[in-house]
Amino acid sequence: MLILTIAIAKGRLQNEAVALFDRAGLRIPSGAQSSRRLAIEDESGSYRFIFVKPADVPVYVEHGIADCGLVGRDVLLESEADLLQPLTLNIGCCRIVVAAPAEMTGNGSGMLRVATKYPNIAARHFGAQGQPVEIIGVSGSVELAPVLGMADCIVDLVETGRTLQENGLRVIEVIADSSARLVVNRASYQLKSKPIGDLIDSLKVAAKETEF
Ligand code: PRP
Repeated sequence: MLILTIAIAKGRLQNEAVALFDRAGLRIPSGAQSSRRLAIEDESGSYRFIFVKPADVPVYVEHGIADCGLVGRDVLLESEADLLQPLTLNIGCCRIVVAAPAEMTGNGSGMLRVATKYPNIAARHFGAQGQPVEIIGVSGSVELAPVLGMADCIVDLVETGRTLQENGLRVIEVIADSSARLVVNRASYQLKSKPIGDLIDSLKVAAKETEF
């Protein structure tokens, strides 16, 4: 019988997330892992995983379509969804930074042009500094924007630093550290407190197994 639906962010976090759930005892059948199905039940039939774009994980969980989700803190800082965050995990570790070309000189207008897929984080960050900005929303390959002259700097994720380096950019400021969070729908947390509590306990143990 299906007990919980869990939304997982597709992309950079996906493989680490699936491996973590596997260690926690929620195993995706091996054939299903390589398929392109977006909703997959675990071997026990008690858990269903849905794979969605990172920014959509808070949406599915807030609407109760998924009881829980696994997503980066970066996405949660950008989202306005009202969710519980009972567990921080040691996967998907990266930083949200301001980065710019090494020879950045500003554009002379006093208004900084910032390209980002995190408009809310960027607006809050520069707003707190009293720096006027024009936020230019893009949905990927953000590093191109300053290289091609569309923006003065970017607000983006850095993991290894390789993308910045290979595009001639450097970190100006770190805005926040990020790693994966387990998020839970508020109603599910009350109505399914036992299975959700058990899942949190299993994930804690599984996460410890990967600590050095
Ligand atoms: C992210 C991020 C950077 C890159 C950083 O993009 O936006 O571009 O990874 O990783 P690195 O520091 O290890 O080089 P992602 O791969 O998620 O794709 P996107 O450009 O489509 O957003």
